[in-house]
Amino acid sequence: MENIRNFCIIAHIDHGKSTLADRMLELTGTVEMRKMKNQMLDQMDLERERGITIKLQPARMEWKGKILNLIDTPGHVDFTYEVSRSLAAVEGALLLVDATQGVEAQTLANLYLALEQNLEIIPIINKIDLPAADVEKVSQEIVNLLGCKKEEILLASAKTGKGVEKILDAIVEKVSAPKSKEKNLQALIFDSAYDEYRGVVIYVRFFGGQIKKGDKIKFVASAETTEVLDLGFFKPHWVSAKNLADGEIGYLITGVKDLEKAKVGDTIVSLDENTKALTGYKQIKPMVYAGIFPQEGNEYHKLREAILKLKLSDSSLIFEPTSSQALGFGFRCGFLGLLHLEIFQERLKREFNLSLIVTTPTVAYNIYLRNGEKMVLTTPNEMPDPSKIERVDEPYMNIEIISPQKYMGELMEYVISQKGIFKNTQYLDEDRLILSFDIPLASILVDFYDSIKSISSGYASLNYDFSDYRSCEIVKVDILVAELPVEALTSLVYKDEAHRVGKRIVERLKDVLPRQQFVLKLQAAVGGKIIAGERLSALRKDVTAKLYGGDVTRKRKLLDKQKKGKKKMAQVGKVEIPQEAYLAVLKRDQN
Ligand code: GTP
Repeated sequence: MENIRNFCIIAHIDHGKSTLADRMLELTGTVEMRKMKNQMLDQMDLERERGITIKLQPARMEWKGKILNLIDTPGHVDFTYEVSRSLAAVEGALLLVDATQGVEAQTLANLYLALEQNLEIIPIINKIDLPAADVEKVSQEIVNLLGCKKEEILLASAKTGKGVEKILDAIVEKVSAPKSKEKNLQALIFDSAYDEYRGVVIYVRFFGGQIKKGDKIKFVASAETTEVLDLGFFKPHWVSAKNLADGEIGYLITGVKDLEKAKVGDTIVSLDENTKALTGYKQIKPMVYAGIFPQEGNEYHKLREAILKLKLSDSSLIFEPTSSQALGFGFRCGFLGLLHLEIFQERLKREFNLSLIVTTPTVAYNIYLRNGEKMVLTTPNEMPDPSKIERVDEPYMNIEIISPQKYMGELMEYVISQKGIFKNTQYLDEDRLILSFDIPLASILVDFYDSIKSISSGYASLNYDFSDYRSCEIVKVDILVAELPVEALTSLVYKDEAHRVGKRIVERLKDVLPRQQFVLKLQAAVGGKIIAGERLSALRKDVTAKLYGGDVTRKRKLLDKQKKGKKKMAQVGKVEIPQEAYLAVLKRDQN
């Protein structure tokens, strides 16, 4: 055990985490240089395009007689819980900061989590080969942040390989070896994957005992029992081993078929021993809900298959079948956050070629009813009658925005306009600030990040995590098109904003809906009361224009024909609502 060093890399998006991991694998001879590209960079297009942290495969390397286990920290804030589990599986963290960008919001968020776990932090400034690198300034930021000495900061270029050997040496010297705390088998699940051929593959860190093929094991939280079918190390591909023991990091393949039963954060113990679970297992609750419907009714089964497939590798996704008069059969899905929702939706479209209607996302409201019952409201259409409601609580987030000082005024104004409550400001260096706020999750659901980026010309970065539930006043705003409610456009809004939001939605609808052959009424209503209305005038083609002074019977015939056409539309009673109409409703006010 004294030869093992377990560590992770924490960094903001694009600061060079994957590139550094690649160099390490190369230098330690774990992966041959010519195989490099496919080994580490073979990831989902979507992840690459968006620059969200690509899932690094855990990797076991050897360096100067020591075993170095690198594990990944999922990068995005939606997955903070998984990040904290990853950090719980290691003893040290490389804090990687881009020499041209400096410390960013996500660097901070993950650093705080690493400090909470008492990890040894090794600060590194990366990309020193770039002409725009400002090592002096970034060093000062890191010194201010960590209270470390400037000399302790390693300088590197993951691209050229400069300084990477020193990083490997520092891991050996500074990160402590795992310490034994438990003699029975005790292993933490820090990640899992679904492989088409091998099924559920569980990634574990051992905190006690050992395990070999054929052993009977138990998952403490899910109470599932099973047998170990295979096990091994990450090199970085899966390589079978005889056994895995205390202090090690490796993978297990068991009889478990369902990712639900082997959740990240759960503890694995021996079936015949009563070993305790490691601390920190908690059920992750979805924060954001949306309805997902196929645009073509006959694609329901295809959608269902697709969701089931994605669920295999995404244990935090929650879904249940639902149906709506307007949208037919679909699913109500719960997500950890907006990014989670976006990615899920994109994957359904790209990987399964589905056309979807996604209803306005809504946060999970806790509703306390006068009769003493409590419910979690996840869809606007289930909002109980207001007279039955005692109180509604909504989720609040802590947010941190790191920005150059010159955008501070405008950022403050914007966040406060979105119901943000200012907490404090901290200086990162002379011209960069950390602004902290509490803000309703509902405020940051749509457009918030884009607005922060546009106000700061792209310089500000944002991080958020769940804070608490606070009371609020919400009402359900229905949207009626041709006097019929359009379920997918119903939304829950703050009572004091209902008029404004209702008005804005019908105005936008007027702009995006195609004109019909009859006058189209567009209305917003709260509790049956119309609060805003617009009329979209009819598209009346003068079919008789060409018949100037002509034959009356022909004229009547044409008019009759037109009338018939109108009747058909009216009979359908449903106006085709294009996808951009739904999007228009999602967009919030920019002022
Ligand atoms: P995500 O996986 O998207 O979170 O980013 P990451 O932190 O893993 O960063 P990645 O390794 O993908 O690097 C981001 C970009 O920076 C890539 O275009 C790299 O080629 C580039 N890069 C990484 N390290 C260096 C470096 O030391 N010097 C230079 N010039 N470019 C670098």
